[in-house]
Amino acid sequence: MKKVFTILLSIVLFTIVNANGNKGTNTKVENLLAKMTLEEKIGQLTQYNGFWNVTGPVPNDGSANLKYVDLKNGLVGSMLNVNYKEDAVGNIRKIQKIVVENSRLHIPLIFGLDVVHGYKTIAPIPLAESASWDLEAIEKSARIAAIEASATGVNWTFAPMVDISRDPRWGRVMEGGGEDPYLGSKIAAARIKGFQGTNLADINTIAATAKHFVGYGFSEAGRDYNTVDIGTSTFYNIVLPPFHAALDAGAKTFMTSFNVINGIPSTGNKFLLRNILKDKWNFQGFVVSDWGAIGEMINHGFAKDLKHSAELAINAGCDMDMESYAFKNHLKELVEKGKIDISLIDDAVRRILKVKYELGLFDDPYKYCNEERYKKNVGSQEHQNAVLEIAKKSIVLLKNENKTLPLKRSQQKLAVIGSLADDKDTPLGNWRAAAVANSAVSVLEGLKKYTKNITFVKGVSPDSILGTEEFNKAVNLAKNSSCVLMVLGESGRQTGEARSKADIGFPQNQEELLKAVYKVNKNIVLVLMNGRPLILTWAEEHIPAILETWHLGSQSGNAIAGVLFGDYNPSGKLPMTFPRSIGQIPIYYNHYNTGRPCVGEENFCSRYIDEVNEPLYPFGYGLSYTEFKYSNLKIDNTDNHNIRVSFNIKNTGDVAGEEVVQLYIRDKVASVVRPVKELKGFNKILLQPGELKNVEFTLTDKELGYYLNDGKFIVEPGEFDIMIGGSSRTSLKGKFILR
Ligand code: NOJ
Repeated sequence: MKKVFTILLSIVLFTIVNANGNKGTNTKVENLLAKMTLEEKIGQLTQYNGFWNVTGPVPNDGSANLKYVDLKNGLVGSMLNVNYKEDAVGNIRKIQKIVVENSRLHIPLIFGLDVVHGYKTIAPIPLAESASWDLEAIEKSARIAAIEASATGVNWTFAPMVDISRDPRWGRVMEGGGEDPYLGSKIAAARIKGFQGTNLADINTIAATAKHFVGYGFSEAGRDYNTVDIGTSTFYNIVLPPFHAALDAGAKTFMTSFNVINGIPSTGNKFLLRNILKDKWNFQGFVVSDWGAIGEMINHGFAKDLKHSAELAINAGCDMDMESYAFKNHLKELVEKGKIDISLIDDAVRRILKVKYELGLFDDPYKYCNEERYKKNVGSQEHQNAVLEIAKKSIVLLKNENKTLPLKRSQQKLAVIGSLADDKDTPLGNWRAAAVANSAVSVLEGLKKYTKNITFVKGVSPDSILGTEEFNKAVNLAKNSSCVLMVLGESGRQTGEARSKADIGFPQNQEELLKAVYKVNKNIVLVLMNGRPLILTWAEEHIPAILETWHLGSQSGNAIAGVLFGDYNPSGKLPMTFPRSIGQIPIYYNHYNTGRPCVGEENFCSRYIDEVNEPLYPFGYGLSYTEFKYSNLKIDNTDNHNIRVSFNIKNTGDVAGEEVVQLYIRDKVASVVRPVKELKGFNKILLQPGELKNVEFTLTDKELGYYLNDGKFIVEPGEFDIMIGGSSRTSLKGKFILR
């Protein structure tokens, strides 16, 4: 009783303190707002790029001198890309000083940066981390990034990217959580918690951005910045959920996307920004445009000029202008001529000031600029150790015929082929913030800790053809070696923004060399480095062992060598489907059944005449050095709102291993058709050899319902299939009736 009372009291106190805290901030915001001129208000809605780096097209406006004058006059609310590499802390301090010491109201800037998978200590790219299905590890990775970035004065990251994508041609899949809204939602929340911590005012936390709102991952044909055309059901059930999860996790900001949704650019889309995000979802933070996206509404054919763009954007609910110079140059006139109501400007200013207060920037605008913390934390051994653990968890074993892996230390003559094996830069991947070029541990460096019996030949490179001599050298080496380790894939800059590809096979002549080596030595371990699913069909058919290592960050080589030599048993699972051929794209596991699914050999069914429907590797797939057996599925639907599903999992091999157990449902008949499979639960389970565990999941309305085409969430009674397994190709199946 006493315990219950204490808990209740704490809840009441927490609510009061919180409400007072909010009230306090709101009063401060209102007091400040009352003192601001229209120009100063518009200044808060303006974000300039720094002087050191650009992450978008350079605009016509915005000379260094103009920026300096505007900073002094308090006509800028935020800057991005300021702390670029050298003297990161000093740069931010300098700019902040210009603003707070010269401007009339001393309103501090909020400094933004794309801290996507680490600041200086680089963790695996987000797609790789997502393959860990380890939410704690993912949160930790974001925490480390926040600790490092915040020490330089950065207050705000433009991450996580929570765009669902079904198209590996799109270069930005490396930045996201893959193709599934359930997994994507969990990852979005974990990353936001990691960045923002439990109190934004803490010195080692930064505000997060859920981006890109919305639909960017569906750029047609995987071409970056392209048109998006998605159906309403996909919009509500696939695209929006991770953003909602980001909101629930407390994301302080949202970023608009470049694309159109139903013909309306997101940045000027009132339905998205006001009706859904700010009204229906009650989002209290602020919305920043993507780089130049306000101005791009002219190219879209939605705005007639920049002034019109400014009007459309502010009306729609976009609060901050990143590098379009639309708000700065046109909002004043629009307000004065009565085209824009001042209340819209005030609302946007309030939202931005509130986040600045929450960060504690009004208490001390320099609080995050901290040389001491920088020295202590940035790139620390502790952080290196942590990203090593995450890197190991992100690796996916795709094939392991005849237990080719793990390698033995006593392995005779190991040939290592492929320039990527010696590459200290590629593992850092794209969006690498302040990473030092060539600072990752290479595969060769990692391997040398296990064996000295290595000969390395480049042979091929993803960036260029190295010539016949180099190619032949590699083949000859393979001929005289007992085992060949080929490290192939994409270089770090071949993925990411503006790196879409029409061909997602191995770049340059890498596959040619793989085939040539195979002719002389079949004992090949293929180590892949890439930022997106590649077409690996020939390799899967011929090569005995394939390890997906993505772009794993600073500790890449150590993680890869650890897995190759069996110090770590791989446990990653694919967050995105790997197609067999490009013509299958878009390909994803949670597709509809269609009116003509193919069950036998019939002709008039939904299929290709030159390719099977199935992918090469399905969503959720990944092997281990041990095997797992699933059995004894039980479903208890006594309580209609808590359907209990349980099953056994046993490690039937001879080494300990972790398995990501996955639960999928299928709603058999619905008012709006449902996919053939939907992930609704997962868990990572460690099992000793021979060990059996019982696993239980509970399905509530949240998992069993879906959104109708008017955006209403509904739970419909009827029959549901339950499917359990270690990938979306599940092994156990049961069913129940929802009453
Ligand atoms: C454009 C990208 O789309 C966005 O994700 C990023 O945050 C901004 N540039 C700033 O670098």
